[in-house]
Amino acid sequence: MTTGRVLHLFICGAGPAKHIQDLITLAHDDGWDVYCIATQSAVEHFLDTDSLAKLTHHPVRTTYRHADRTPTPPPDAVIVAPATYNTINKWAAGIADTYPLTQLAELTGLGVRIVVLPFVNRALARNQAFTQSIETLRQEGVRVLIGPGQFEPHPPRTGDTALKNYPWKLAIESA
Ligand SMILES: Cc1cc2nc3c(=O)[nH]c(=O)nc-3n(C[C@H](O)[C@H](O)[C@H](O)COP(=O)(O)O)c2cc1C
Repeated sequence: MTTGRVLHLFICGAGPAKHIQDLITLAHDDGWDVYCIATQSAVEHFLDTDSLAKLTHHPVRTTYRHADRTPTPPPDAVIVAPATYNTINKWAAGIADTYPLTQLAELTGLGVRIVVLPFVNRALARNQAFTQSIETLRQEGVRVLIGPGQFEPHPPRTGDTALKNYPWKLAIESA
């Protein structure tokens, strides 16, 4: 049973995923019922899925539903955070070879409100593939929080410092 507006939170494999509880707490405070969908990389390197399930009261989804699980209710809004270089580029290119990417493709087509909070360094952000992907997603109506006053890419190998200023709150406000 859901207790509020439904938020689907897609978590990718980058440093802020270790602190995803900060975003979930802000979302709960704002009245959202949060369902986490995590990439394989996020689960392997960054997440404690048991704690997340306890915090959200829902299992963390990484793949298609098993027959014994209740379905995830459709979202009122979607946040992708932290959004990696990999997921942003694959999503914009129409690649759907994982559960999270397939879901994102469908939700984009449905016109659901989607907010993306990237976490990439300046070197990755400068790639033409990436800037074109951001442009493509924005043309699809996806809100990508990158630029002045939003997420600003950091110099390579300074990710740990950049974590301190990661604008979780902006993602919730935008949703
Ligand atoms: C410790 C560690 C830190 C990483 N940091 C980042 C990062 O800040 N940004 C990024 O885009 N990718 C980062 N990556 C690389 C991604 O995890 C990798 O591209 C992966 O394929 C992403 O998969 P996903 O998009 O399905 O989550 C990092 C990987 C590791 C192991």
